[in-house]
Amino acid sequence: MSYRKVEKIIKGIQTTDGAGVNLTRIIGSPELNMLDPFLLLDEFGSANPNDYIAGFPSHPHRGFETITYMLNGKFRHQDSAGNEGILTDGSVQWMTAGRGVIHSEMPEQTEGLVRGFQLWMNLPKKLKMIDPAYHDIPAEKIPQVDFEGGNVKIISGSYQGIKGPGKPHTGMLYHNIYLKPDALFEMKIENGWNVFIYIYEGSMELDQTIPKGCLVVFEQSGDLILDAGPDGAQFIVVAGEPINEPVARGGPFVMNTRGEILQAFDDYQKGVLDKPV
Ligand code: CO
Repeated sequence: MSYRKVEKIIKGIQTTDGAGVNLTRIIGSPELNMLDPFLLLDEFGSANPNDYIAGFPSHPHRGFETITYMLNGKFRHQDSAGNEGILTDGSVQWMTAGRGVIHSEMPEQTEGLVRGFQLWMNLPKKLKMIDPAYHDIPAEKIPQVDFEGGNVKIISGSYQGIKGPGKPHTGMLYHNIYLKPDALFEMKIENGWNVFIYIYEGSMELDQTIPKGCLVVFEQSGDLILDAGPDGAQFIVVAGEPINEPVARGGPFVMNTRGEILQAFDDYQKGVLDKPV
């Protein structure tokens, strides 16, 4: 049986976004610009309200999906089309920006721990201009599989025949995994898909000790075999089918060409970004 070897280990970089929210950028940085189809991964996490209280006031998106996984805390999202929802502990918001949304993501709490991840997943050219959509997934709708060495929460894709609630537009899986000290974990991933894990608590032993705060990118084929460190490990595993198309980025827009990015800025300025065509 072949297993995927580690290809790259990357430490996130501290940055700010929105109205000054402190976060760690893991994908979408000079060290790892993207891992097709994933364009960006941020970890936001702080017990200090000053790090998150300003939130992400009104801003636009076009051409991709954002998947926000709230480990702890409460955020309210609202958009210009009147959609509204609250993200609470353990819940996921799956937003398809498609042709365009203008939304805000603001904390509902003024104290305590806020922690989670935002992942940007690209849409293929033929789906970039689809209607925008929101899909709020409460924590209790995310199935959990327990085994001797820990547990797996299935956000998207499946594990041991159990399917998660996520509805990606191209092949993708997203699990949150807890492993007990020194536990071994194995799973199959489609050959050809890109896969990464991000360790947010504990550590992993993969030929070397990999501490929390690290992203590990694996080879494109074989099974995933992971070994938790002496204090166990909490991590997300995310895998996706590469889209293999040109990527043009312009701030909150991700298209295939520079012309389409300029068009997005123009549509936003004219107030038609989120209007039906
Ligand atoms: Co946003």
